[in-house]
Amino acid sequence: MEASDRLLEEIRFHDQQAHERAERLREADLAFSNETYLEHESWIRPAIEKLGEIRNCDLLDLGCGHAMAAIVFARVGARVTALDLSSGYLAEAQRRAHRNGVKLELVQADAERLPFTNASFDRIWGNAILHHLHLDTVAHEIHRVLRPGGVAVFAEPWGENPLLEWARQRLPYPGKSRTRDERPLRASQLDTLREHFPRLQVQGYQLLSMAGRVLGQGPLVRALAWCDDRLLRQVPTLHRWCRYVVLTLPRD
Ligand SMILES: C[S@@+](CC[C@H](N)C(=O)[O-])C[C@H]1O[C@@H](n2cnc3c(N)ncnc32)[C@H](O)[C@@H]1O
Repeated sequence: MEASDRLLEEIRFHDQQAHERAERLREADLAFSNETYLEHESWIRPAIEKLGEIRNCDLLDLGCGHAMAAIVFARVGARVTALDLSSGYLAEAQRRAHRNGVKLELVQADAERLPFTNASFDRIWGNAILHHLHLDTVAHEIHRVLRPGGVAVFAEPWGENPLLEWARQRLPYPGKSRTRDERPLRASQLDTLREHFPRLQVQGYQLLSMAGRVLGQGPLVRALAWCDDRLLRQVPTLHRWCRYVVLTLPRD
């Protein structure tokens, strides 16, 4: 498929999603605490910790969507650029930033062709974005705009668990809608990232507790998360079967 067809489809899908959100979101819903964002999925807080100190850093949120992460970063003192392809999501990002009293530099652009000069950022963050993109192109761009000594961190859906892949394709569950071209990342794709970031680290999240996606959060899923924590620490091979991975890309 032509890159432009893929981008147009991404824009159509996300603008439509943003439009539906805008109709539901009341002004009061736009305010949120850092804790609300950090706790909304189990990988978010540990992934953000991988960024290290961000105060006074130039930070890029790639595929920012609603920009809740960008707002958390700005609140702790980063200078944040939030980039997305969708003007609908950037409008929500603008509303949210205003409601939460922070300043974001909002940029509408394609993550595969970043409109920034080389070495513009100390940190790059992305949640659920790489799996929408061509990895070889975006890996080159991330490496180009990241300063030496900087780090990029991405949290991405992971596609190595056949049972989970079956469920993703067959089972109905809340918030399941997907773009036509996105695919959970596969282990074989990580070599593309390693060409630019040889010290890439990969960590899995939600092995048993992925059941929360269907069951919702409650005592059972909290117990499963407790088991995950121990299992994943003791048996590294189990990371392969997780729902999400956090990729840490230090720039040499
Ligand atoms: C699954 S959403 C994730 C949004 C946000 N990071 C979050 O954590 O909720 C993917 C986002 O990536 C954006 N996106 C998709 N393809 C893109 C591209 N080529 N360049 C920039 N943004 C893109 C979409 O518009 C959407 O806002």
